[in-house]
Amino acid sequence: ASILVINGPNLNMLGRREPEIYGHETLEDIISGLIDLADEYNIRLFDFQSNAEHEIVERIHKAMDDDTDYIIINPAAFTHTSVAIRDALATVDIPFIEVHLSNIHKRESFRHHSYFSDLAEGVIAGLGTKGYRLAFEAAAEKLEES
Ligand code: DQA
Repeated sequence: ASILVINGPNLNMLGRREPEIYGHETLEDIISGLIDLADEYNIRLFDFQSNAEHEIVERIHKAMDDDTDYIIINPAAFTHTSVAIRDALATVDIPFIEVHLSNIHKRESFRHHSYFSDLAEGVIAGLGTKGYRLAFEAAAEKLEES
């Protein structure tokens, strides 16, 4: 089984970016933790980060042909703006979990709405990098059941 982890804009700057909000771990730290977890579950991990909306749309399309069973996505700022990425997820019809490091509901009102949450299998926000591990475990266990 394969799980694709997608991270949106500015998440390549984690560790250096507003650490009081997003913490000190880098994206590399997050992904290497997920690779270890993937080994435990015997799952293949695909990892993708982009700052460009169209690249994320195209990576999601590719997931239809590369045997991706589950997607974990932090759309970052596109959470609040991107009908295109939402539509891409609906197009491929692969179950996904939406993850945010920060609790978007506790922040500025423009972050309260997500274009993804009503399509997601689950949403995790506010638990920092642990949210990715929890999402991965939830996805891996669903795949084991099926
Ligand atoms: C974020 C929250 C978004 O509002 C923000 O634009 C991000 C990161 C988070 O992980 O907390 O870039 O998705």
